Amino acid sequence: MTPTEPEKKKSAFTTAILLAAALIVVLLTCVPYLVSIALAEGPAQASTADASPIFGVTIPAGYKQWELIAPAEEAAPLDELRAVVGNQIAIDAYQAGKLPFPDGTILVKRAWKRKQSPEFASATVPGAATTVQVMVKDSRKYASTGGWGFGRFINGKPVDEAQHRTCWGCHEARAKSRDYVFTRPAP
Ligand code: HEC
Repeated sequence: MTPTEPEKKKSAFTTAILLAAALIVVLLTCVPYLVSIALAEGPAQASTADASPIFGVTIPAGYKQWELIAPAEEAAPLDELRAVVGNQIAIDAYQAGKLPFPDGTILVKRAWKRKQSPEFASATVPGAATTVQVMVKDSRKYASTGGWGFGRFINGKPVDEAQHRTCWGCHEARAKSRDYVFTRPAP
């Protein structure tokens, strides 16, 4: 027995409804993933609460795994040990001796209080972390500060706007010929 014309139409209609419902379910399931991917791959300035004033720079994910460019030491009163690390774009630019640094370059300066090694008196080791400082290259967004956006963070939170007003002045005055970056790769 073959179905009559209206029955055929009805079943085609049901199929269409079911397909539409399935499509909606798939879309609803995918949207949160798509959004999270978009956010994760967005610029380093994605979130606002933890972003630096003026520049909107955030601490980049995974920077603790980044390659070392050079260590540094700061005399009193700060009295710190430091390590400047960079993302792959930064490392590639350093290796190619390329200036200015390309957009997407991120440099992070980590800093710690000095501590005497508990096992060996003459050895100095990192104590408590003090600041994390970030420079992000985006030549259009930060055109008025040499293409660099700045962020200084203590315990993961950005410091005040007044401190962020000092960054560009010092880097501009002292490191202009090197695209405003002080750190040279450690030999
Ligand atoms: C008075 C000068 C001065 C000021 C102000 C300053 N810096 Fe720097 N910065 C330096 C020096 C010098 C270095 C080289 C590394 C070192 O000695 O610690 C440096 C290094 C850096 C680096 C590593 C890349 C490089 O240029 O070597 C970052 C990132 C950085 N500073 C971020 C900041 C941020 C963010 C601010 C503002 C909140 C800031 N700096 C303000 C002097 C300054």
